[in-house]
Amino acid sequence: MKYYILFGPPGAGKGTQATAMVEKYNLHHISTGALLRKEIAAGTELGRLAKGLIENGNLVPDEVVEGMIENEFNTVKGIDGFLLDGFPRTLPQAEALDNILKKSSEEVTATVSIMIPDEMIMERIKGRALKEGRADDASEDIINNRIATYHAQTEPLIDYYKSAGKYHEADGVGTIEEIRERIFSIMDKF
Ligand code: AP5
Ligand code: MG
Repeated sequence: MKYYILFGPPGAGKGTQATAMVEKYNLHHISTGALLRKEIAAGTELGRLAKGLIENGNLVPDEVVEGMIENEFNTVKGIDGFLLDGFPRTLPQAEALDNILKKSSEEVTATVSIMIPDEMIMERIKGRALKEGRADDASEDIINNRIATYHAQTEPLIDYYKSAGKYHEADGVGTIEEIRERIFSIMDKF
């Protein structure tokens, strides 16, 4: 099984690129953000816990998303691998992922990172807000907090995966098609 991490700041284009990636490499897409938004919409206990955190641009507790990931690994069959979009997002989550995979003698295949400058994050998310109406896209303050959260808690993972020899970066500036080709040229190696 292949275990790809789709990494990048908010609004970098992870969700946009994921569709073509799962199709080409027969992967199952797991977006922890999308799973959490589903829980919020369904009004579950987990959704109620997540709502206030997400809508202020903060992360939900590590254990919550780790449980979601393990559950997907154990239930989705008939694929060549998983594409993790938005997970891991903290060092403890990265370590938990390594431990979960170790139980079945598996490991992270590669981290594919889409990188854009902070100014472009704001621009892209504001564009999406007009189309999708995500609550965490609704104000500049929330978006700025998501950017700050990314730099403080998620960016250190770049060094974590570099040290493991598993970090591969695609420039996220360009057309959707150009970026897709950059990503495919990385993934074709595995
Ligand atoms: P999540 O849903 O993962 O949000 P995110 O990481 O902030 O990323 P986005 O979904 O906003 O951006 P994207 O990279 O998918 O960009 P997209 O393709 O849409 O997480 C939401 C929240 O859930 C978190 O803040 C946290 O609270 C919680 N959460 C989730 N995972 C967690 C975890 N592991 N631990 C703890 N908490 C967690 O593109 C953006 C826009 O740009 C779109 O409009 C798109 O059309 C456009 N676009 C894309 N590519 C291009 C291009 N090349 N040119 C022009 N426009 C483009
Ligand atoms: Mg997304």
